[in-house]
Amino acid sequence: MTAIDYSSRIPNNVDLASDRRLQRALENWQPRFADWWSEMGPAGFQTNEVYLRTAVDVGQEGWAHFDHVAMPDYRWGIFLSEADPERRIGFGEMKGQEVWQEVPGEFRTDLRRLIVVQGDTEPASVEQQRLLGKTAPSLYDLRNLFQVNVEEGRHLWAMVYLLHGYFGRDGRDEADAMLERHAGDPDHPRILGAFNEETPDWLSFFMFTYFTDRDGKYQLGALRESAFDPLSRTCDFMLKEEAHHMFVGASGVGRVVQRTAELMKEHNTDDIARFGGVNLDTLQRYINFHYSVSVDLFGSERSTNAANYYAAGLKGRFNEADYDDDHVLDDTDDTYLVVHDGKITTETLSSRTLVNQQLRDGYAEDCAKGLRRWNRILAEADVDAELSLPHQGFHRAVGSFADHHVSPDGRVVSDDEWAANEGEWLPTDDERAHIGSLMKPQLEPGKMAGWIAPPSRGINTQPVDYDYVRL
Ligand SMILES: [Fe+2]
Ligand SMILES: [Fe+2]
Repeated sequence: MTAIDYSSRIPNNVDLASDRRLQRALENWQPRFADWWSEMGPAGFQTNEVYLRTAVDVGQEGWAHFDHVAMPDYRWGIFLSEADPERRIGFGEMKGQEVWQEVPGEFRTDLRRLIVVQGDTEPASVEQQRLLGKTAPSLYDLRNLFQVNVEEGRHLWAMVYLLHGYFGRDGRDEADAMLERHAGDPDHPRILGAFNEETPDWLSFFMFTYFTDRDGKYQLGALRESAFDPLSRTCDFMLKEEAHHMFVGASGVGRVVQRTAELMKEHNTDDIARFGGVNLDTLQRYINFHYSVSVDLFGSERSTNAANYYAAGLKGRFNEADYDDDHVLDDTDDTYLVVHDGKITTETLSSRTLVNQQLRDGYAEDCAKGLRRWNRILAEADVDAELSLPHQGFHRAVGSFADHHVSPDGRVVSDDEWAANEGEWLPTDDERAHIGSLMKPQLEPGKMAGWIAPPSRGINTQPVDYDYVRL
């Protein structure tokens, strides 16, 4: 059952028609989603046709169909990866047992919470990005923004399907609440801090899709391991869509790095801000900011909740099978960093209690790949400088370092030293204002704003100057 039924009101590959109650409940939620999209989704461009991909199949190859479509006509639906009838629980106390097709009563609250927290981030990012269309650096980028937005909308559908389908009345209430909380709303904020921050400019957008969407990739990867099989299959397909979001971030930042290098050469100076570019040290400060707030999303490295989720088989580690251990983690230890007497040292704890840290370490390695790619761009342009990830303790609001100031190179520093250097380490107001001033729309096919290099190729073999959005 990989083909998607597009003849029903809600496209799906879960045979929704056979469950009238569920179908009706979701059809009831559908117009509320549409209202949310028109009020809180992308501002403007709602009547323009956008070159978007839609899922037509969930198999490995050729799952996507590309066509011009007005965003409100996008066919949001419910797509789960194919079931594996042999699938067994891969970790925790019940490792080796059959996976669950229904939610066990004892784990109902925890599973619902995990789904709600994940689901809440999906519409949040659409809200955070809603004004960006007005300042797109190219039609190509505008299309990518909207692709990410419609897919985050679909990810909301994915989580709402689970809530409606498996959690009864509580699930339906939670699904409604997804459309009532809003990013940055003082009375009804989104659940996680990073999803209430603004995404005020395109540099922030590229950093967000690189660093914050990548947290999403790791969370979805951890939930893909879940013993609750419908959640696992849902997340598996979301991860396929997520790959494009990672690409938008990695290539977006890379194109800014490239343009920065070009301008530095052309004007023979590091200070290219006055020539309409983004200085390298500004890029470094944006990396410092977005990386540190995204690392916070992994939660405290030491976590009893995470240990319980792991023991119960609810949430594992990204690509759990690749870890070279017993996947139970009840009699092994691990170390993590803490601050003692103003110095960073290690402490030992049970591995299970540190499972958040393992997930986060995988994330940090994944982030580092992009840095290497961006540094290659600099090296090839003969720029003698490198970008780097800050230390895991830098600018943290959650976990071991939350009550300490740590420099990007990993020294515990005093309040005074922090205050004296904050403007070196994190974006300043002036700098943000400069980035804001660069945000002038460039919507002629094939043209790029002056602060970013063109992409090396277009989308789905189309040329870069294709009419990705019909204005
Ligand atoms: Fe998502
Ligand atoms: Fe995403």
